[in-house]
Amino acid sequence: MSGQSSIKLVFSPEVIQRRVQELAAHLAEDYADTEPVVLGVLKGCFIFMSDLVRRLNLPVEVDFVRLSSYGASDTSSGTVEMTTPPSISLEGRPVLVVEDIVDTGRTLSWLQQYLESLGPSSVRFCVLVDKAERRELDFDADYVGFHVPKGFLVGYGLDYDERYRFLPGIYEITGQESS
Ligand code: IMP
Ligand code: MG
Repeated sequence: MSGQSSIKLVFSPEVIQRRVQELAAHLAEDYADTEPVVLGVLKGCFIFMSDLVRRLNLPVEVDFVRLSSYGASDTSSGTVEMTTPPSISLEGRPVLVVEDIVDTGRTLSWLQQYLESLGPSSVRFCVLVDKAERRELDFDADYVGFHVPKGFLVGYGLDYDERYRFLPGIYEITGQESS
């Protein structure tokens, strides 16, 4: 069915910035006197992570992985593939993964297993949004920006089919073609 899609504001830029500041303060405390590797999951992390690291006040190293899962554009299919692995050694390092959203939990559960095999001193997960409705695997992020029950979100890095990432707020999109 092809209908008009529409978007509705869920978290304003001001609300997001306040929350990012709170998360950064919390993280700065937990990671005091360490030099963590902040590992972003591309592409969705790019805005959140850039705001977060600038507020951390910690000598972090920054790296990225790129993951993809086969299948529909609005949900992960379960088969995760790492198209870009970390570019620096994570052995013995505290690793903080930054991701846009956890939905079924498949992507981050897979990444957790992968990272643990690399021998970091710790692995924790910071997600902007935790969406509980479609959780399939028992995955709990250590730091969560916002909990939402359901809905497909775009903006502030989050996309629908590569669109809307640039929006400074977070919106719920409805009426998109596949879902
Ligand atoms: P999971 O493996 O189902 O937890 O899915 C995580 C990935 O699915 C995220 O990294 C996003 O790319 C995508 N995703 C899930 N829900 C949304 C959403 O509401 N908006 C945008 N992307 C989403
Ligand atoms: Mg993603």
